[in-house]
Amino acid sequence: MKKEQVVHCQFSVWYPIFKKHTIKSLILPLPQNVIDYLLDDGTLVISGSDHNSQPIQTNNSESDAEEDVQWSDDETTAIATAPEFPEFASTVLEAINALGGCVFPKLNWSAPRDANWIALNSSLECRSLGDVFLLFKSSDFITHDLTQAFLQCSDQDSPDPVISYELVLRKWAELIPGGEFRCFVKENKLIAVSQRDHTQYYQHILKQEQHISQAIQDFFSQHVQYRFLDEDFVFDVYRDSQGRVWLIDLNPFGEVTDSLLFSWDELMSGEVVDHQQQDGPAFRYTTSEVTVQPSPCLSYRIPRDFVDLSAGEDAYKLIDFLKLTKSQQEESEEEEENPPQ
Ligand SMILES: Nc1ncnc2c1ncn2[C@@H]1O[C@H](COP(=O)(O)OP(=O)(O)OP(=O)(O)O)[C@@H](O)[C@H]1O
Ligand SMILES: [Mg+2]
Repeated sequence: MKKEQVVHCQFSVWYPIFKKHTIKSLILPLPQNVIDYLLDDGTLVISGSDHNSQPIQTNNSESDAEEDVQWSDDETTAIATAPEFPEFASTVLEAINALGGCVFPKLNWSAPRDANWIALNSSLECRSLGDVFLLFKSSDFITHDLTQAFLQCSDQDSPDPVISYELVLRKWAELIPGGEFRCFVKENKLIAVSQRDHTQYYQHILKQEQHISQAIQDFFSQHVQYRFLDEDFVFDVYRDSQGRVWLIDLNPFGEVTDSLLFSWDELMSGEVVDHQQQDGPAFRYTTSEVTVQPSPCLSYRIPRDFVDLSAGEDAYKLIDFLKLTKSQQEESEEEEENPPQ
């Protein structure tokens, strides 16, 4: 996979080409001070992350970011207030409203799929810039876009292309995971299709295998084939309850993209042998409940108690936590007085 292929898979590159066949979205340039804030590990405080999307007041000052950290006399209690980006926040809110009030956020390539656990409703649904920040700041996938976009490219000797970072807001759509498929295209030929949510068994896929495969092949030949900037790429689709196929995303043909039920060795060699239709792509799906696995993003989570504590969601947990810290403190004080022999 070359750096150029990664560049071509940026949202703002493919969206104009396939606009008619995908979910309505808006692309906003990400200001440098917002990028800095997203990359800053120290500032975890999020402003405006409440779920009522009241318009954030804009002030007319020139500076976008007003970072204000107040230190009390007692050095142990620092009160950090989140930086505010009033102009950007109102642009984002306007975009969210134009998309119906509820959006799915992404950067140039990635969504913060690894961070959904941190949101109150465990979903990537966003109604304000605060919601977006909470997810983005908790996501390794977002950090990858910002810092390591070309890490796995084969042409490491060539300079990294200059990237203009963008916040992508997509109209929120209730997608049923069993309707999502990942399609692998090599030399402009659709060679393989995999169930996207491969950790689950979906009976309807088994029953409608031929139908689904045919619908995806038709969608590919009518709307996708020869229209993209590369001849090798991976596209994701959604087949809705009426059988209509929608484009969800474009990804580079290479190891950065999860090959799901295939292996990259098979896909790269082009020899995806399967028992499926002649001439059609290999079509793989999870066939029995025995093989159901945990969700792939589970490893990114931290224990629920930590989340509740950090969000101040559960007062009782907080009280227990304070009691525990206090008793540990007392224990260690006692130890100091009577050191163990
Ligand atoms: N507009 C939307 N509304 C609601 N959910 C969405 C929307 N777009 C995508 N999703 C869900 O989020 C998942 C991830 O979206 P997307 O493929 O854009 O992210 P990604 O970071 O590119 O993922 P990957 O790393 O697998 O390529 C999709 O599989 C789909 O379930
Ligand atoms: Mg993708």
